[in-house]
Amino acid sequence: MPDQKPSARIRPATVLDAPAVAAVHLRCWRETYGEKIPADVYAEREAAGPGEWERLLSDPDGPTVWLAHRDGEAVGFAMAVAPGAGHVRPLELRLLHVVAQEHGRRTGTHLLQLAVGDAPCQVWVEEGNAHAQGFFRHHGFELDGERRTVAARGSLTEVRMLR
Ligand SMILES: CC(C)(COP(=O)(O)OP(=O)(O)OC[C@H]1O[C@@H](n2cnc3c(N)ncnc32)[C@H](O)[C@@H]1OP(=O)(O)O)[C@@H](O)C(=O)NCCC(=O)NCCS
Repeated sequence: MPDQKPSARIRPATVLDAPAVAAVHLRCWRETYGEKIPADVYAEREAAGPGEWERLLSDPDGPTVWLAHRDGEAVGFAMAVAPGAGHVRPLELRLLHVVAQEHGRRTGTHLLQLAVGDAPCQVWVEEGNAHAQGFFRHHGFELDGERRTVAARGSLTEVRMLR
């Protein structure tokens, strides 16, 4: 039976949300990547994440971070950036994470719309993450054949999708 719960509510995150965003980020990594990411990388993220989010969310020139919440609990977030000159698209969806218990309630779709609208855009997705690739394909993105390995995420291989 389809899940009848509505999408979570979404608003811009503030510096006061830094601990919650860091916690959701780490939770989503564990749910999505599991043991593909080594324990020491998780430990480093757990230690450094809250401070990094606090710096980003208190920077007046920083990107908007869209925070989804339900019943007072953070359940997802999204952030887009301008990747800079020379990139194939002028806009990059840098982060989009929804906790597993929220999947399928259109929270990811609403976060995507707030972060990038229907603009031409690039996103890097883990190569084995068929669920996210299907979600982005559903929203008009296609693989363009580019791959990279990201040391900061425990050497995960990512593929690029463009719209
Ligand atoms: C990918 C992710 C953001 C999707 O969020 P979500 O809230 O579960 O997705 P939604 O409920 O908004 O999906 C809505 C639509 O996308 C479609 N969709 C979702 N996953 C799909 C898939 N794998 N294949 C095809 N369509 C898919 C749904 O059918 C639905 O379509 P509809 O609106 O036309 O009915 C979420 O699963 C997630 O955070 N995953 C873990 C982290 C991750 O992989 N992030 C991306 C890394 S870049």
